[in-house]
Amino acid sequence: AYVVTDACIKCKYTDCVEVCPVDCFHEGPNFLAIDPDECIDCSLCVAECPVGAIYPEDDVPKGQEAFIQLNADLAKNWPGIVSRIDPPADHADWAEVKDKLRFLER
Ligand code: SF4
Ligand code: F3S
Repeated sequence: AYVVTDACIKCKYTDCVEVCPVDCFHEGPNFLAIDPDECIDCSLCVAECPVGAIYPEDDVPKGQEAFIQLNADLAKNWPGIVSRIDPPADHADWAEVKDKLRFLER
């Protein structure tokens, strides 16, 4: 499955959800998660993310491996999202920030 990683936190651009053929994105307060049981590995969402937050499970950047299980867990608890919505007002302030996991809201 594909995995949403650190860069999405507090940016949440949601461009990714528009292209997913199986609607497997789920929305939390400041992050999206992909349900690995629904994702068909089409890779279409990768190019849509302005901050490059989405990776195939086998190619998640070093240090971000925890996001694999995190996507699985969060996707089960969060509602689905299939249409783009406006990002948080301060999204640009966070686009270049690394290691945002401590800011993840559940
Ligand atoms: Fe959806 Fe394809 Fe992205 Fe998986 S890889 S989340 S199926 S768009
Ligand atoms: Fe997040 Fe990128 Fe989608 S910031 S909401 S993974 S477009």
